[in-house]
Amino acid sequence: MAMITVEQAIIRVRAGQLVAMPTETVYGLAGDARRAATVAEIFSHKRRPSFDPLIVHVASLADGEHYAHFTPLARQLAAAFWPGPLTLVLPRRPGIADLVTSGLETVGVRCPDHPIALELLQASGCPLAAPSANLFGRISPTSAAAVFEQFADEIPIVDGGPCRVGVESTVLFMGETPRILRPGGLTPEQLAAVVGAPVALATRQEKANTLPQLAPGLLASHYAPCKPLRMLEDIPAQGLSPTVGLVSFRGQPDHPGPQEILSPSGDLAEAATKVFAALRTLDNGPAQTLVAQWVPNHGLGLAINDRLRRAAGLG
Ligand code: TXA
Ligand code: MG
Repeated sequence: MAMITVEQAIIRVRAGQLVAMPTETVYGLAGDARRAATVAEIFSHKRRPSFDPLIVHVASLADGEHYAHFTPLARQLAAAFWPGPLTLVLPRRPGIADLVTSGLETVGVRCPDHPIALELLQASGCPLAAPSANLFGRISPTSAAAVFEQFADEIPIVDGGPCRVGVESTVLFMGETPRILRPGGLTPEQLAAVVGAPVALATRQEKANTLPQLAPGLLASHYAPCKPLRMLEDIPAQGLSPTVGLVSFRGQPDHPGPQEILSPSGDLAEAATKVFAALRTLDNGPAQTLVAQWVPNHGLGLAINDRLRRAAGLG
């Protein structure tokens, strides 16, 4: 594997080259957000359509203020949750390449909570555009090995171990009333505690209003494994065949085929760290088709169910 040190990554990033970097959520495919050619390379390596905007990673709130107009509430949220799994969508300022935001007047910014990502941001002095380090539409990588599976030696990787959170950041649109565009590693309950009111998921219409073309990361059939995936509720009651790979929440003792258990004790935080790896493991194993069980739909369960729903191609 093409593993590099943080020092080597700093040199690459400063030269406008790409690296795969660890964050607390998932690994990112990172490059200097100010350079149009670098950002174009991110899109082409990912085979990502150019209408799907990228998140800009920054070293601190003070850095973020260079690239976006923060409202008082946005500042409060950043103070409470950065570094951490929260992306704030705010009016953009000049400085980053237009391609980063796909021409939108808003930009998603976040400060990642990982020592390697923070060192790379601080020492390079570059704001880093970084989508998840997977090919477009495929499973997000939560380890260096998972990045390598998708990009081989195309992209040098800084290995930061397995990701602590395991699902991507919560994307929050900071309109008059904040709305969650993508549930993620920070729960609606945590947001509500700072906002002082419940924070709702954006409706389909609200999403359509924030993005001219609905971003694929927010749509059905994203994060898909190669094998067909169905949700357990669609399966007849007589049980599953041994050719089925099962993603279960707390374990199904009678399942005759391969199985990945997200959390035997029923802990949603543990389940979040395992969901992408579980899909990947079953996808690479002997199962012919995959089936997943919903997890409880609160807290981090919203993000997990969102990723499962879209991996299964449901809206
Ligand atoms: O945890 C994460 O957020 C990871 C790590 C690497 O930081 N990154 C990540 O990036 O998941 P990506 O590109 O795979 O997903 C970014 C999501 C997309 O669904 C995109 O549509 C949304 O954020 N987004 C970015 N900028 C936006 C904007 N200006 N308006 C609305 N949505 C935006
Ligand atoms: Mg992604």
